[in-house]
Amino acid sequence: MTSRSTSTDERPAFVHDGIAFGCDYNPEQWSREVWQEDVVLMREAGVDLVAINIFGWSHIEPRDGVFDFEGLDAIIELLHENGIRVNLGTGTSSTPPWLTTKHPEILPIMADGTTRYPGGRQAWCPSSPVFRERALLLVDKVAERYGSHPAVALWHVSNELGCHNALCYNEESAEAFRRWLERRYTTIDALNAAWGTSFWSQRYGTWDEILPPMLTVSTSNPSQVVDFHRFSSDELLDYYRAEYAVLRRHSSIPITTNFMVTAHIKNLDYWSWAPEMDVIANDHYLDNRLEDPTAELSFSDDLTRGLAQGAPWILMEHSTSAVNWQPLNLAKQPGEMTRNSLTHVARGADGVCFFQWRASLQGSEKFHSALLPHAGTNTDLWREVVELGATLDRLDEVAGSRVVADVAILFSWDSWWSADGESRPSKSVDYLQQVHAAHGALRDLGITTDVVAPGADLSGYRMVIVPGLYMVTDVEATNINDYVAAGGSALVTFFSGIVDEDDRVRTGGYPGAFREMLGVSVDEFVPLAPTDQVSLDDGSSAGLWAERLRSTGADVIARYADGPLVGVPAVTRHDYQSGVARYVATVLDRDGLKALLRSMAAEAGVTPTGPETDGSVEVIRRRAQSQQTTQDYLFVINHSVDDITVATSGIELVTGEGVETRVTVPAGAVRVVKERETKMENAA
Ligand code: GLA
Repeated sequence: MTSRSTSTDERPAFVHDGIAFGCDYNPEQWSREVWQEDVVLMREAGVDLVAINIFGWSHIEPRDGVFDFEGLDAIIELLHENGIRVNLGTGTSSTPPWLTTKHPEILPIMADGTTRYPGGRQAWCPSSPVFRERALLLVDKVAERYGSHPAVALWHVSNELGCHNALCYNEESAEAFRRWLERRYTTIDALNAAWGTSFWSQRYGTWDEILPPMLTVSTSNPSQVVDFHRFSSDELLDYYRAEYAVLRRHSSIPITTNFMVTAHIKNLDYWSWAPEMDVIANDHYLDNRLEDPTAELSFSDDLTRGLAQGAPWILMEHSTSAVNWQPLNLAKQPGEMTRNSLTHVARGADGVCFFQWRASLQGSEKFHSALLPHAGTNTDLWREVVELGATLDRLDEVAGSRVVADVAILFSWDSWWSADGESRPSKSVDYLQQVHAAHGALRDLGITTDVVAPGADLSGYRMVIVPGLYMVTDVEATNINDYVAAGGSALVTFFSGIVDEDDRVRTGGYPGAFREMLGVSVDEFVPLAPTDQVSLDDGSSAGLWAERLRSTGADVIARYADGPLVGVPAVTRHDYQSGVARYVATVLDRDGLKALLRSMAAEAGVTPTGPETDGSVEVIRRRAQSQQTTQDYLFVINHSVDDITVATSGIELVTGEGVETRVTVPAGAVRVVKERETKMENAA
């Protein structure tokens, strides 16, 4: 694969022969005899990219200023001799005990003022100057030693930056927050205006009076909270940049860090991080606390691809079976790991890596699954791992191709942080759930979607969905309005376009930023009790939210037939300049939402890639395009218990069989057809 390069600077590409198959490996936990066995088994499985030194600090700097690289040298050589490429961790993700003993000021403090102590991992404050100095010294030593080692294919900065410590409230964070605010607002008056501090006597006289949003006895200032999220994301990004700069001084090898594009971690605005990566990498674990974990996997992939601006990316971690950090850690069913892995490839990954190589014997992750389980190689899981390695080899030619999608969903961390804050009309409305609902409905319809930023170039999309985009800047609002004006088709859902970037309400009738485009005006929100359902006059049902809405030019598609707003429009359609903008002022049930999206897609000329199902079949197309040729790869993922067939022709790469008119995909299996005919009608 080849990573994208930015227009502003040339970044080194991550080049790999085909689809990478890899894992985290923690050799510090094992004897050297075990290392020998490990590399033999890695070769048996076809593992060709191994992340090491992720948690290496206390081994390579066992005492302050004393460095010992003997073990790391040896494992890198061993992997290299065996033709296994190294994804080299900088080793800074977890501090050694000597450092926090000497410098306890590194430790993070939470919103309630309590300290988080060593004994776990990531117990460091992102704004700590001492942490940064010590960590960068380590990076310097590692980069100097291995910066041009032929085994090293990729640098892996820290690990899941901000997984546990993104929000720190200690004095060093407070000081850095103040400096960040000064840069953002320049004057204290501008900050007072942005935060609306006339409310509740919060007016600041000097920068020093400002604190991070510590726990309060009442609700907090929401603008302060959203700025603290922005600051915290920027602070860790700045730290990433500092490691990047040190690495670059010694090495021209591509650099990345593993993102967490997932439902339960929302602290980093990856739209601002993505341009800083030489290749986008993401960690994804099935979250069985969600209603539909597989649908969330697909969403996460589509968003990760959006961060990569459509280019291939690397799945840096996922699990062969159970994790250890959910209340109930479900084992995967036979075949599920393969389906998950190939879904990632279908949705743009050119690398499939796992946490971790060999299941630990000790520590808090000893019951986390691995490629090599405690039970050893005579297991179904190991056999599936070996089979997956072989399958990925057969898919090598797919690397470098891009997913074809002509529908986009807009996603915003600003809206996630602000719409889910305190003091809002209904705590039952959850931003991500609304985004997932739109994505899931399109997935059911067989339509592949990109997930992109509100300010992204939308001109290539036939249809754009704007779910619950509560906070929107003027520039973003103009981008969306212009897209429709120029002939696009948009669906906006309730609680969109409500506030500006300071969390200040846009007045004159909701949704302020999109009122004119939508041809509607909302006088008042009318949230519904979570258990209440209302009927619409088109036969669909809805819940959770309603609005006292007037059409100011839009056609009414459906009105409430019962509930508190009988006769009031709930779904509208408005011709706006050369395009069409629809609005949904409630939470439609799944069938209602699908019906709306189905008719919208038909009108916009969107052709589904796959059949309409309940999400049990996913069909995705990746396209390799050069000036002379176009080669398509059709991925069919069958989550169902029945065999299915899909119309296509070419060569099926998993089995090597020819496909004349239809490919049969057995229950629970995945097939990838190198297509004979290019279906140009799906071109973006
Ligand atoms: C994250 C971390 C890994 C490991 C896994 C367990 O992804 O990066 O070190 O803890 O979670 O699921």
